[in-house]
Amino acid sequence: MTDKPARIKVAIQKSGRLTEQSLDLLQRCGLKYTKGPDQLIAFGENMPVDVLLVRDDDIPGLVRDDVCDLGIAGLNIVEEKRLHFLQQEPIEPFRILRSLDYGHCRLAFAYPDGSPLRNVASLEGRRIATSYPSIVRDYLRRQNVTATVVEFSGAVEIAPSLGRADAICDLVSTGATLIANKLREGETILESHAVLLQTPVQVPPEKAEWIGKLLQRVEGVMQVRESKYIMMHAPKAALAQIAALLPGSEAPTVLPLDGRDDRVAVHVVCRENVFWETLESLKAAGATSVLVMPVEKMLA
Ligand code: PRP
Ligand code: ZN
Repeated sequence: MTDKPARIKVAIQKSGRLTEQSLDLLQRCGLKYTKGPDQLIAFGENMPVDVLLVRDDDIPGLVRDDVCDLGIAGLNIVEEKRLHFLQQEPIEPFRILRSLDYGHCRLAFAYPDGSPLRNVASLEGRRIATSYPSIVRDYLRRQNVTATVVEFSGAVEIAPSLGRADAICDLVSTGATLIANKLREGETILESHAVLLQTPVQVPPEKAEWIGKLLQRVEGVMQVRESKYIMMHAPKAALAQIAALLPGSEAPTVLPLDGRDDRVAVHVVCRENVFWETLESLKAAGATSVLVMPVEKMLA
């Protein structure tokens, strides 16, 4: 036995679409870190938490094998590896603790411009290039379509022009990559976003305590990101209508306005994002001087 305190290892993507926001999330949870000389580990200074910067494809395996206690990866790669591991061994390889609010994209089929192929049903007997062979095979099986899955580890979008495939199934975010490669987007088979994973093994109590704390802080960060503090002047008569326009808001604070009996000041915390449409509806209900402010921290 050693007295060295157990440190939690979190695997995140080294460089890619999730890197910046994953590091930002950990920082908002209070983590201060110094990067090691090789830039592959960030050592937590004020919490027993170290961050491993790895290839996203390796994250689910590192968490399954308990090399890392936690991991942050896109649902696309998590689901692909989960199906793959389940084929090897029929036990859940990791626990998905929660969805995170970034890294939104979709896994979708795409067909070359000018090709007669336009949907999955037309792929019978054809070749599909993808980096997500398990997800695609699973989907084709459920659609009763028999097709050949050609595995590519990257640059899937060039497979049709190389003559290696008739269609592709790949991640789409803005759609710019598809357009640049003269491909038409088809069916979405998975809506993806970042998720937080935990190892399937029982963690020792001293680690469990910090994992619990971290998870609670993640909840707090997510809530605050959406929450807004709203102040406005409004007709007393419209208070019920205004409350109905603000989703997830608790009882508003209503304050008198000097020299006015018909109008009041309203302060409210709204737990969902507030869009321009909402502000326009508030104005239509008679609200004026509407201010929307971000919430810094919140402990429910
Ligand atoms: C994905 C996908 C496309 C691109 C699509 O790659 O493979 O190349 O993003 O994005 P767009 O619709 O905004 O053009 P990613 O950046 O995830 O890199 P990787 O597949 O090499 O990990
Ligand atoms: Zn990748």
